Amino acid sequence: MKDLAARVAELYRRNRQTGHAAWCGTDYDFVCPSEGTYPFQWFWDSCFHAIVLTHFDIERAKSELRSLLVNAQPDGLVPHVTFWQREKYQEMLSTYAIAYRSPYLSDCMQPPLLAEALATVVERGGGLAFARELMPAVRRYYDWLDRVRDPDRDGLVAVLQPDETGLDHTPKFDGYLGVATCTHAELTSAWHRVADPYAEVGRDPARMFALDRFIVEDVMVNTIYGENLRVLAGLLDDLGDPSTAADYRLRAQETTAALLSRCFDPARGLFFDLAGSAEKHLETSTFTCLFPLLLPELPAEIAASLAAHLEDPRAFAARFPVPTVAMTEPSFCPDRLPGSLVFRGTTWINVNWYLARGLRRHGRTDLARHIEDRSVELIERAGFREYYNPHSGEGHGAEGFSWSALALDMIAARGD
Ligand code: GLC
Repeated sequence: MKDLAARVAELYRRNRQTGHAAWCGTDYDFVCPSEGTYPFQWFWDSCFHAIVLTHFDIERAKSELRSLLVNAQPDGLVPHVTFWQREKYQEMLSTYAIAYRSPYLSDCMQPPLLAEALATVVERGGGLAFARELMPAVRRYYDWLDRVRDPDRDGLVAVLQPDETGLDHTPKFDGYLGVATCTHAELTSAWHRVADPYAEVGRDPARMFALDRFIVEDVMVNTIYGENLRVLAGLLDDLGDPSTAADYRLRAQETTAALLSRCFDPARGLFFDLAGSAEKHLETSTFTCLFPLLLPELPAEIAASLAAHLEDPRAFAARFPVPTVAMTEPSFCPDRLPGSLVFRGTTWINVNWYLARGLRRHGRTDLARHIEDRSVELIERAGFREYYNPHSGEGHGAEGFSWSALALDMIAARGD
């Protein structure tokens, strides 16, 4: 544990990015996902990094979130990437498929765990004054999600392109995207089939929805959304604003109720995303089908059925859990894929961090501990890699990958 903490601190020293950005006239101080492949500031990575930083440097945890929010947009969006030092990386940028709002900011969202990150920093020494400082931008962001991304008003927010889920190449979208073989070229052209028509309508959200090219009410995104609305309500209570807190709490309940009534398939015991304006279930079994474990109010029998999938050696109980795609799926690929295709079966530490927390909330400490211990073992064997082979534990993808340091949070936070 002491050794792991020291290794994390060293990784975060190496991946720290600081400087002054002339394009927006502000200083920045954040941890990039990986120097070699991802030198910019990514939204959900940064939220994870802030949580990890609370273990050894609360001031940097605060800077991480301040840098993330300093370019929050007037409409409320916090872009999924801030290209702080874009001029240094022109060549690398030519390989990214990204929709831009400006040369320095993307025009996409990522899983909305901002309130959770803020609450963790506040609780672990950041203090309520920090919550007060960031609250206006944080509330604008969740209000943007509600106003702009939930046009059918069912309590579930929709993503408009695959990368907005943070799970860029997940096979659960293959059928919907019309992807038959899994190659980088095919997935990139599918991305363009979705994103290019958006550019033609000026990336106006209402017109993007009207195109009905890619509208997904994603189970993981919405579980995180519901959880974060609840956490946001708690922060607002602490700040002495119970009536605004009650509004967000009500929204959290609506999101949870909608996940249960619209996404849960009782026959398979899994939650499925809703696709298109027709809201068809996307029925590939991936880890996101189990994600509602995170919700404290999930009925006990549903939590038990999700845990059973995690314990099933044919589905998710790999030697190094949790594979991001059920091993029974034809699209399950435990190996590194050409062109760094992600989330097609390999094991990821941020996924394990969330699922283990969910298991603890439903009394499955035994299974949570198993996942946590294996996560730490992966890092001991292969280092902080982007993802791992669930059979062999071999590390793949980016090296020195920052959110894999969540393993430290998994074991530092446990009191049992
Ligand atoms: C990949 C992942 C995305 C992550 C980014 C930086 O694009 O799919 O979730 O935020 O890399 O780590």
